[in-house]
Amino acid sequence: MTHEAHARPWVEMRGIHKWFGGVHALKGVDFSVRRGEVVGLIGDNGAGKSTLIKILSGVFPPDKGEILIEGHRVRFRSPKDAKQHGIETVYQELALVDNLDVPGNIFLGREPALVGGGSLLALLHKGRMVREARDLLARLKVDIGDLNALAGELSGGQRQTVAIARALYTEPKLLIMDEPTAALAVQEAKKVLDLVRNLRERNIGVVFISHTLQEVFAVADRIVILRKGEKVGDFPVDELTIDEAVKLMVGGE
Ligand SMILES: Nc1ncnc2c1ncn2[C@@H]1O[C@H](COP(=O)(O)OP(=O)(O)O)[C@@H](O)[C@H]1O
Ligand SMILES: [Mg+2]
Repeated sequence: MTHEAHARPWVEMRGIHKWFGGVHALKGVDFSVRRGEVVGLIGDNGAGKSTLIKILSGVFPPDKGEILIEGHRVRFRSPKDAKQHGIETVYQELALVDNLDVPGNIFLGREPALVGGGSLLALLHKGRMVREARDLLARLKVDIGDLNALAGELSGGQRQTVAIARALYTEPKLLIMDEPTAALAVQEAKKVLDLVRNLRERNIGVVFISHTLQEVFAVADRIVILRKGEKVGDFPVDELTIDEAVKLMVGGE
């Protein structure tokens, strides 16, 4: 943990409620992340993890409650709003365009004029994109192999790395990862964990969601537990065992 992790939260969610019709998916949840802090968010299926991070990433607003960044109230009307505040998200679904290469995917949607096209200008831009993609991946200390490979030819781990690189291109303050390792083999999942540690060193906050509690415990500084839409635990990782976490996740009956 960096020293910043002891500072006040960078982002705070307070008293968050969400209803989906008759389903009360979040029941007054408080959640915060500091710069350079990795928060593991765990809970059984349907506990509300994805709903909470979708609110944090601007996919939909809370029905009640507020979000503060560096102490100031913010309202996200869209994921674009959240991105502009420095919040990026990577989902389990490896949302890449299979017939674009690595740089094309990293810059996808950011510089549309630069993707494809055969003009001299497009070629110059292409050269810049390749250089920037290579720099970005080097900073992440990951080796993706051939940058000219099409996304459809990459392994699950390489695809996830490209998705993470794309999210990091704008230098976010917070990266949210919802089940980033779910589709990966064990060795590839380990690389994603190394990447998360690398982000912490660069003082980026991370919200890390995974069903594999060993992973969460290996990488998180703090563990937050949801059960049926309520926060039932919030502990520094060294003050909680996996067994205790499971008990809190499933309830004490
Ligand atoms: N878009 C939606 N429409 C209706 N119900 C939803 C929607 N998203 C989530 N829910 C419900 O909200 C609850 C929490 O779901 P979710 O946040 O996906 O849980 P988790 O990610 O922890 O598995 C569940 O009961 C789920 O069925
Ligand atoms: Mg989920």
